[in-house]
Formats: sequence, C-alpha cells, structure tokens
Amino acid sequence: MPTRRALLCGGAASVLAGAVAGSGAAQAAARPIPFGSAAEIGAFREDARYREALKRYCDVIVPMNDLKWQALRHDRPRFDFAGADEIVAFAIANGKALRGHTLLWGEALPPWAKGITTRAEAERELVNHIEIVVDRYKGRIATWDVVNEVIKYEPEPGAPYRDTIWQRLLGPEHIEIAFRTAARVDPKARLVLNDFLFEEATPAGAARRKVALDTFRRLRDKGIPVHGLGIQAHLYGEKDLDLDGLQHFLRDLDALGLDLEITELDVIDWKLPADPARRDKLAAARVSGFLEAVVAAKPPRAIVTWGLTDRYSWVQDVFPRGDGARARPLPLDADYRPKPMMAVLERIRRGTAAGK
Ligand code: XIL
Repeated sequence: MPTRRALLCGGAASVLAGAVAGSGAAQAAARPIPFGSAAEIGAFREDARYREALKRYCDVIVPMNDLKWQALRHDRPRFDFAGADEIVAFAIANGKALRGHTLLWGEALPPWAKGITTRAEAERELVNHIEIVVDRYKGRIATWDVVNEVIKYEPEPGAPYRDTIWQRLLGPEHIEIAFRTAARVDPKARLVLNDFLFEEATPAGAARRKVALDTFRRLRDKGIPVHGLGIQAHLYGEKDLDLDGLQHFLRDLDALGLDLEITELDVIDWKLPADPARRDKLAAARVSGFLEAVVAAKPPRAIVTWGLTDRYSWVQDVFPRGDGARARPLPLDADYRPKPMMAVLERIRRGTAAGK
C-alpha cells in the first residue's frame, strides 16, 4: 500500500480527528477512512513481522487485551500497566491513533472483582478504576470503549442489559456511572458504547439495535456525554445479515448526532467451505457487503479489525472448524500476505472501484 502514507499526510491522529463528518461515499473518497487493528501483546512482543505489519497497515491501534481489568487488575491494590504501556508507546512512536478497550465489561475480570458483593463497593471500584486508567492515558488515548457488550444477547422488555456483576449490583446506572466518570476525567476523549450483533437478521438483532438507541437517548436526556457507537462486526460467514435493518439503525444513530466506528471486524469462517481460496473470497464478499451498506448509511470514523493476520486470532480458539483447518478471519494470511479482504478494505476506505 505505497500511497497510503502520502494520502494520510498529517498523520493518523489528525485524519481520525477530522474524519468523515458528513455522509456518502464521495466524502469517504476525499479522505480515506482510517484503518486499524487490535494488537495482541504476545505476538507483539515476539514477532517482528507482526510489529512491521502494524506499522505498515494501521492508522489506529487498539491494545487487544491489555486494558481489560484482567490484565490491569490481576493484583487488586496495584495496577499493572506493562502491556498497555508497551503498545501505547509503540503506537505513539509510529504516529498511530489509539482506541482504549475497555473500561467496563462483564468478562475478563480478575477473581477478586467477581467477588464484589455490595453496591457501594461496585461503584467505588468502578469509579476508581476508570479515574486511574483514563487519567494515565489522557492526551494519548483519544477514544475509549467505555462500556463493552452491555446489551443482553436476546434483550427482553424490561431486561435490556446483560447479567454482569455491574448490572446486578448497580442496575442500568452502571452505564451512566462509567460514561460520567470517563468524561469527568478526560473531557476531550471520545466516548463509545461498543457492542455486537447489530447486523444479525433475527428478532434479537432488531431488539439489540433498539436497546442501543434507547440507551443513547437516556444518556442524552440525563446530560451524560457519549459520542458514538462501536459496532464490533464479528461477522458470521454462514448467517444472513439484515442490511436494511442495519442501515435504518445507522440513520437513527446519525439523527441522534452520534458517530460510528467499526471496532472488531473479522469473519467467523468455521462453517465456510474448506478450500482456502474459496473461503477467502467468501469472507471478502461478506466484509464487502457489510461495509458497503454501512458506508452508504453512515461512514464510520474508523474501521478496525480484531487482529491483522490469520496467524493470531481469537476466532481460531473460540470458533474452531470441524475439519481442523486453520481459521482465516483477517485481512492478512498467516504468512502476512494480503488476502482479498485487504483489497475490499482498501476499496471501501478510499471509496474507489478497485478491489471489486
Ligand atoms: C478477545 C481477545 O481477542 C482474546 O485474545 C481474549 O482471549 C479474549 O477476548 N469481543 C471483545 C473482545 O470485545 O475484547 C474479545 O477479545 C473478542 C470479543
């Protein structure tokens, strides 16, 4: 991608800051949508080719696991910033923007946090955690996934949120506490609600979209700052997408004055045919159909994949194929060669016809 850096003149951060305020593919063509990836600390430390790929392809970097409670808070009294600091320093040294993932999640909690039993303790710990983490990276991490996966998998009337320790002890207010605290500590940060399965053609997909919009309205009515939605976009290769429903949702989001990022894009290919070339083509087509619909309704401020190379991906662990073949969810293959998905990303980022 020799021309990318030239086009991005001014650096990733300024592109991100000024990205795509209006709508339509024409605007996206004028200024490429920033692209990025989550960086996994083990691969980052051990594999020089991985670091080179992050440098070469990414405008935005997300520490994949190192800002989660499990990594930062394994020892209750002492914060362990080692992994996060390494990735943040690398990103800044290489002119990349950063997304912070994540301040509140029901998963990746250390055992002591799962043992919190009272409302007062939950609020105290949550507020203290957000204050310390956001303050440390103030001015360096421009965007935070303040809450992650708070929407119930299949929301029901009166029960929109996922059953986590935060929801159990604090109720729906856990979301408000998190956003309010992050905004207080870093008033310049962009604060995002990050969640998944907004694209699924099921009643749950539609219900999840409604819960997101209701949550944004509630936050707005209470004067709590929130700037955007992160759509994870772990796209199942074998499932139908509800692109009309998704576009409608994105227009509603736009009407609320919120912006959008694609935050964890990959293709879960466990049910796709075994042949690698065919699988890659199908995965690229899935990404293309999804992103085209997204960009036509509301161009995202960034497109971030959850990893960069098939050499390392959570899909391999969580969605293993029945035939034992390696998962191929990402834009680079296990030998760092760009796959058809990379051409699709380039085309869509630039609003051009290449890579069709
Ligand atoms: C995953 C990481 O990729 C794995 O390395 C880790 O073992 C578990 O978490 N949704 C999210 C991400 O918001 O934080 C998850 O990341 C993938 C699903």
